[in-house]
Amino acid sequence: MSIDKKAAEILIVDDQEIILRLLEETLKSEGYTVRMATNGMEALESVDKKQPDLIITDMLMPKLNGCDMVSKLKESSETRLIPTIMLTGLFDFEHKVRALEIGVDDFLGKPFNRIELITKVRALLKTKAYIDQLEDAETVIFSLALAIEGRDPYTNGHCQRLSEYGSKLAKKIGLDDLHIDAVRKGGVIHDIGKIVVPDSILLKPGKLNREEYEIMKRHPEEGERICKPLKSLTHVLPIIRFHQERWDGTGYPDKLVGDQIPLTARIIAIVDFYDALITVRPYKKAYNIQESMEIMETETKENKWDPNLMKVFLDMIISGEIDHHISEIKPIIYDYS
Ligand SMILES: [Fe+2]
Repeated sequence: MSIDKKAAEILIVDDQEIILRLLEETLKSEGYTVRMATNGMEALESVDKKQPDLIITDMLMPKLNGCDMVSKLKESSETRLIPTIMLTGLFDFEHKVRALEIGVDDFLGKPFNRIELITKVRALLKTKAYIDQLEDAETVIFSLALAIEGRDPYTNGHCQRLSEYGSKLAKKIGLDDLHIDAVRKGGVIHDIGKIVVPDSILLKPGKLNREEYEIMKRHPEEGERICKPLKSLTHVLPIIRFHQERWDGTGYPDKLVGDQIPLTARIIAIVDFYDALITVRPYKKAYNIQESMEIMETETKENKWDPNLMKVFLDMIISGEIDHHISEIKPIIYDYS
């Protein structure tokens, strides 16, 4: 999806009528659609009704100033990607610093230069169109992942829980934002390659035979193949490919051993194991927390899981940082028994 010039809608916000008129005139003469607001409050209401492609706002205004208004937009995942240009006077240095901190994309001096305005508007709309495209593609991938999860009634909410447990564990061990983001996304899309696994195998109660297991084992590589073209998911690819690897080298597809397995993939593997233990599956009952922890400890002694990472995770379960979804899972446990 690209924003063509005529379709692009720009919200201009200023308490001075004369500035609004000048901006409106300039932008309309370039073919843009223009909406107006005279303070931050009005601007937020306007965005609420319909998101503009770009906002140009004054800094000092009654009711709600430009910085606070942009700050509110940046807090919400729905509106944080709307680009903003802030109009500034010559001596607004302090405000400018604050505006940069809250994520204003560009500045325009007052009185503004027409060519400078148009150049900045064009550049930001181009970036916005690019981001929209990425978001669209990512949305398709995530919807697909949830649709695949939906094929298996036993794993209801599994991806969301993995995403949450995983990002908590990633934060706990001090990973940076990019890797935390990888784990959050990886929780949802790590099994996307299961699209190649037929229901007869995916939902089979009991053990898979050799042939079926070979088909199941293709899912990490298939998942990597599906997501590889999307540059915005590059940091998630190691999770998709390596989440079935095991510490002792008995996993798949590459039989990596120990810390050859990327840390983000080890995180998802451990939280995936935990979630599989505490929920009911076609081939097993749901274990309670105590039983699950004992199984995890035993398998870690058997060298199946990263012992340091497992210790941190078990400590988080004991301290109550992890298990707050248990109340949602419990009814399934009771139904089964
Ligand atoms: Fe998997």
